[in-house]
Amino acid sequence: SGVERLGDMIARAKTIVPFTGAGISTECGIPDFRSPGGIWTRNRPIQFDEFVASQSARDESWRRRFAMEEVFAAARPGRGHRALASLHRAGKIPAVITQNIDNLHQASGFAADRVIELHGNTTYARCIGCGQAYQLDWVKRRFDADGAAPNCTACDEPVKTATISFGQAMPEDEMQRATELSQACDLFIAIGSSLVVWPAAGFPMMAKNAGARLVIINREPTEQDDIADLVIHHDIGETLGPFVGN
Ligand code: OAD
Ligand code: ZN
Repeated sequence: SGVERLGDMIARAKTIVPFTGAGISTECGIPDFRSPGGIWTRNRPIQFDEFVASQSARDESWRRRFAMEEVFAAARPGRGHRALASLHRAGKIPAVITQNIDNLHQASGFAADRVIELHGNTTYARCIGCGQAYQLDWVKRRFDADGAAPNCTACDEPVKTATISFGQAMPEDEMQRATELSQACDLFIAIGSSLVVWPAAGFPMMAKNAGARLVIINREPTEQDDIADLVIHHDIGETLGPFVGN
């Protein structure tokens, strides 16, 4: 079966690089983007240039974020996260590349510098001008006091969740490290991503072109199933559960 073949490939691999999307966190109560009920089936994305240009877009963006706070605060690592953390402790996984912003790889036991966050992190905020970091509590208090999304106390530019929006530049250091990891592994496993958002979706093919074997684990078919060595169209928690160690 596919799961047995995955077990063989993991046992034989020296260096495994996982690449994760929203599907690894759905069992933790966080909706994905493109499945029925997903974030982009309910709300149109707010583009970065809209956020920069418009106070009302910033207010709406922060209202959406506050509405999700209970979900993010309650989320704990799922079986997929825990399986990857076990393989990390076993020395097979040097770091994880993720499109997710939920901090759950860190919560499962990866040190912050072992999580390559291509799309940032939503558990804190940053000024888009000077980069000053802010806690969400501070943003919430200012929003409630002023009835509007706050600007930076240092430079007066808008404060935004520390995530990458459509139209916003990708983080250069993360792109560089993801490139190096993709080209240095012998097994690359894409987990829970529709693989439609670029440039992130380029890493599976980059790994494949550099000689790695490519596995895709996703409930639905993805854009890139045809280039994979193994495709498992099954639930992530059930597929990776057997790899959760102690
Ligand atoms: P998507 O919502 O596009 O894809 C998630 C995939 O996970 C879907 O194909 C689901 O079928 C699958 N899935 C969900 N739960 C699953 C489960 N329990 N077991 C197996 N498969 C499951 O999410 P991403 O590919 O992560 O970026 O989205 C990529 C980017 O688009 C995000 O990082 C975000 C979004 O816009 C930005 O906002 C810049
Ligand atoms: Zn600032």
